[in-house]
Amino acid sequence: MKKIFVANFKMNKTNPEVLDYIQELNNHLPESLSSDVCLCLPYTSLCLGKFLDERIAVGAQNMHEEDFGPFTGEISADMLCCLGVKYVIIGHSERRKYFNETNEKINKKIKTALRHGLKVVLCVGETKVQRNSKRTTEILSQQIESALSGIFENELKGIIIAYEPVWAIGTGKVASSEDIEEAVKTIRKLISSHYSKQAAQDQKILYGGSLTSGTAKSILKIDGICGALVGGASLDPNELIKIISWFSLKVI
Ligand code: PGA
Repeated sequence: MKKIFVANFKMNKTNPEVLDYIQELNNHLPESLSSDVCLCLPYTSLCLGKFLDERIAVGAQNMHEEDFGPFTGEISADMLCCLGVKYVIIGHSERRKYFNETNEKINKKIKTALRHGLKVVLCVGETKVQRNSKRTTEILSQQIESALSGIFENELKGIIIAYEPVWAIGTGKVASSEDIEEAVKTIRKLISSHYSKQAAQDQKILYGGSLTSGTAKSILKIDGICGALVGGASLDPNELIKIISWFSLKVI
């Protein structure tokens, strides 16, 4: 399966900074890039996506669930599509925590995104407290079951699930291979029981949380991990190149 890398800029970089970044990235991309790569830029920079090397897709970090209307400050799926956006991150833990995004809202957003042909990067993951109280499986089940409620099996190809333990995001602490493997198994089991064995096998699952070029190698080798959602490390184009080209160049 082709690896997928999603870079999440979060609320970082002005347009001049993004332009510099794009230039650096384009100039140093390996010729033999064999992974799917998507840059999730801030809304204000999405219009600069057209300057990216054509092998890199543009993504958004969020969108509103309604198609249009009186939602001051919000951005619709149509607005993203008009800018050439192909991916959208939905349910990131920072949106769940700071913007009160509920599982129900996330489910609505997913349905809207799929209806507009956007690929969804659905983020799930437990907090440290939940992990310590052995609630990881319960939390992943709740998040995935409600996010996918009413979604048909043939729509799953438009959804990438990113396992992002909240305690690993931006902390420099990467989850252990065992923890990641366990979470991947749980996610596949859920997909299998709600859809089919084939759907579970085909489901694309990424890891996210303090991944760097130093840790990418061991994480990408974990059984069932199809790629990564990269936050902080993706802000340096050369670091992102190291991460995404590991597979293309087979530098082990
Ligand atoms: P991080 O962020 O790589 O900086 O931990 C990942 C994410 O939040 O998607």
